[in-house]
Order: sequence, then C-alpha cells, then structure tokens
Amino acid sequence: MPFDTSVAHVARVYNYWLGGKDNFAADRAAGEQAVKAFPDIVLSARANRAFLARAVRFLATQSGIRQFLDIGTGIPSANNTHEVAQSAAPQSRVVYVDNDPVVLVHARALLVSDPAGATDYIEADLRNPQQILERAARLLDFSQPVAVMLMAILQHLDDADDPYQVVATLLDAVPAGSYLALSHPAKDIDAEAMAKMAESLNRTMAEKVTFRDRGAVARFFDGLDLVEPGMVQASKWRPASEVEAASPAALWAGVARKA
Ligand SMILES: C[S@@+](CC[C@H](N)C(=O)[O-])C[C@H]1O[C@@H](n2cnc3c(N)ncnc32)[C@H](O)[C@@H]1O
Repeated sequence: MPFDTSVAHVARVYNYWLGGKDNFAADRAAGEQAVKAFPDIVLSARANRAFLARAVRFLATQSGIRQFLDIGTGIPSANNTHEVAQSAAPQSRVVYVDNDPVVLVHARALLVSDPAGATDYIEADLRNPQQILERAARLLDFSQPVAVMLMAILQHLDDADDPYQVVATLLDAVPAGSYLALSHPAKDIDAEAMAKMAESLNRTMAEKVTFRDRGAVARFFDGLDLVEPGMVQASKWRPASEVEAASPAALWAGVARKA
C-alpha cells in the first residue's frame, strides 16, 4: 500500500527519536520541533524502549508467559518483543499489531522467529479490539495466559475512542494469569514541557496525542493486580542499573496480572 511521506507519522517520528533510519523529512521536522518543546523526549523514548525489554523479560522469565500480543509495535528496533521473549523462552509466540503501513513494510524483520516459537503480524487498529482478537487467535491460544502489551500507544486514542473500554475488551478475552504491560506519556511529569510537546505533535503529526495524568493512566489497571513496584515512571520500573533508573522518562508504566 502506498503511503504519504509528506505528513509526519508517529511510528517514523519515534524511529527518528530512537536514532533509526526509517523516517522522512516531515518526520524529522516534527521530531525536531518536539525536541525543542521537550528536550528530554529522546531519553524518554529510549527509557520507554528499555522498559519494554525489562517488562517482556520479566513476563518470560518470572511469570511463565509464553504468549504476547504487542499492539502498537512500531518500526522494528533493538530488542523487539519476540527477540527478548524468545531469548528467555524460545517457544514464545508473539503477535504484533500496528495500523501504520510503514510498520507493515518492515514486518518481515518481526517474523524471523525462533523455530521453537512463532510470530505473526496483523495490520489493524486498536480502536477495533474485537478484530485484533479474532485475527490473533490464528496464533495465540486464548485459553492460556497472554501478555497484552500496550506500550506508548494509548495516547493516540482520545477520550471519545473510549480507551478504557478498549483495554477492558482485550483483558476480558484472556484468562486468569494473563498480564497487561503498559506505558503512557505523562501529562503530569515535566507538565509544562509535555503540554508544549503535545501541542507541537498535534500540529505536525497525522496521529493526534492525548497525554494523561497518573490517575487517568492508573485507571487502565483497574481490576488487575499491579506487580512491584506498581505503576511508576518508566525508568523506575525494575531498572537494571542506577544509570537506567536515573534516566528522564515522561511516561507512567506498569505490569499487572489478571487474577
Ligand atoms: C510511539 S510508538 C510505540 C512503539 C512501541 N510500542 C514502543 O513502545 O517502543 C506508537 C505505535 O503505535 C502505532 N499506533 C498508533 N495508533 C494506533 C492505532 N489506533 N492502532 C494501532 N496502532 C497504532 C503507531 O503506528 C506506532 O507504531
């Protein structure tokens, strides 16, 4: 499917912040304007990626999770979900979901699975969770625990999209012992700069953003049991080192179990 490179898209802007090469002039311009509003966005994006890897490692090694539904995958980067999961448990099965055709173009890199496990890619919109669940069932066994991953994606659903109902639909479809792993840009960390960045991104990017405060992000975990240390700034979630813990990260993040 052809895609318009003259308009910035979040997958490519995020790729630019992460130092990737899969972006165009409009994405770089939008990314740079955001950096001017919030200079820590680059470190924040890296801290989010590091949280993703730590969460997946935790799920694969300490929670016995072998099935992952990673929605809002992004352009492949270092430490993609199946690489982290399969390095701990080669039989892990991972379904990736994104609605950006550019991610689809790169999906081949996500489909190089360890032969003991499997990966799949679905082009779909988070606003239609039922469709995602139906297609994911081609690879995932929904009678067994699944980790639903929503890493830095829910900010692209505004309140009219009813993001809480979307998350509830996904969690209703998975059995007890499943997990929700989530990160979300914070409205109340570095609030002034984050507000400026939101305003900038909403001017330049195709996908609009709604940043949320601690209470609004915590609501996504309602009815689930947060594992230690609870919902915290992304860099403070089980950091591997003091340096990692000290990284700026304007995101709330957590991992919770369905009882
Ligand atoms: C900021 S990136 C995060 C990538 C990755 N999850 C991470 O945390 O490193 C957000 C991704 O979500 C995707 N996305 C945004 N809105 C979406 C929607 N409504 N449905 C599916 N994917 C969406 C974008 O295309 C992009 O790849």
